[in-house]
Amino acid sequence: MRKRKVIIDCDPGIDDSLAIMLALQSSEMEVVGITIVCGNAPVEMGFENAKKVLQQMGRLDIPVYIGADKPIKREYVNALDTHGPDGLGESFLPDVAGYHQEMCAAEFLSHTLKQDKISIIALGPMTNLAELIKVDKEAFLQIDELVSMGGSYKSHGNCSPVAEYNYWCDPDAAALVYETMYAAGKQIHMVGLDVTREIVLTPTILEYMCRLNQEIGMFVRKITKFYFDFHWQWEHIIGCVINDPLAVAYFLDKSICDGFDSFVQVETQGISMGQTVVDAMNFYRKKANAKVLTKTDTKRFFELFFSRVLEIDVEQLDILQDIV
Ligand code: RIB
Ligand code: CA
Repeated sequence: MRKRKVIIDCDPGIDDSLAIMLALQSSEMEVVGITIVCGNAPVEMGFENAKKVLQQMGRLDIPVYIGADKPIKREYVNALDTHGPDGLGESFLPDVAGYHQEMCAAEFLSHTLKQDKISIIALGPMTNLAELIKVDKEAFLQIDELVSMGGSYKSHGNCSPVAEYNYWCDPDAAALVYETMYAAGKQIHMVGLDVTREIVLTPTILEYMCRLNQEIGMFVRKITKFYFDFHWQWEHIIGCVINDPLAVAYFLDKSICDGFDSFVQVETQGISMGQTVVDAMNFYRKKANAKVLTKTDTKRFFELFFSRVLEIDVEQLDILQDIV
């Protein structure tokens, strides 16, 4: 089967890093590039963190491009309180040299999307995609499949009562992307908090990962410790919600999530800024511009995550039903 070409647009970020690891270990897809956006971490820090993950995975052949350093309108608010002062869980991994920037993210996207059939998995604020729409909407509309970790339907927000961080950090960018998809009669796959909150990396699962593949397991432990502490303090759970890898898993196997088609609009102002208003009952009589995902199979996610990231046979994972 032909590999599907993908660009990962992200803000690494702890869970972004796990998502990149899953993508790199999945033979169905070819990561043709990684574009960095300001979000969890400032864009330069995200750039360094992406290289650290590529170094760990032995994939410094993959190009990384620096994108937007602030949202298109709002003031930039990072999430280093969640991801640690280094944006990678206080792992303070050594910087990776190299990677001369011959172009910025928007230029890379504009150039590359017109060369081939390429999908985008967006794991951060959608500022780079909004910049692309502004400079080259034709290229944006060439995107084969657009999967976005962001938004929420019925699940409460994670940085306001109603808003998820990626769309809250740059609501104007998210709104522009959804509006542009609507105008083009296309649909974005919205992998929101309704499904990602089901994906919790627990100490037991982490311990099991270390037993199955010590090198990778220890790397994951190193970058997630800070995240565990954050989740205990703020979400009172023992473990950490790893949002972004689910977007990659869903790209690989659509049956891992289920949901419905709906018109979705992103609020850009006021108390509910960043909220995804999902018109599930079709009050506005508008064509669906999103597939809103509401259910996921946690066990199947971890089977896929383990088998790829830890490079083991699924048959070795019979214990998962006891620990997931
Ligand atoms: O709200 C969760 C999302 O915001 C994830 O993508 C996380 O990495 C942050 O970017
Ligand atoms: Ca992210």
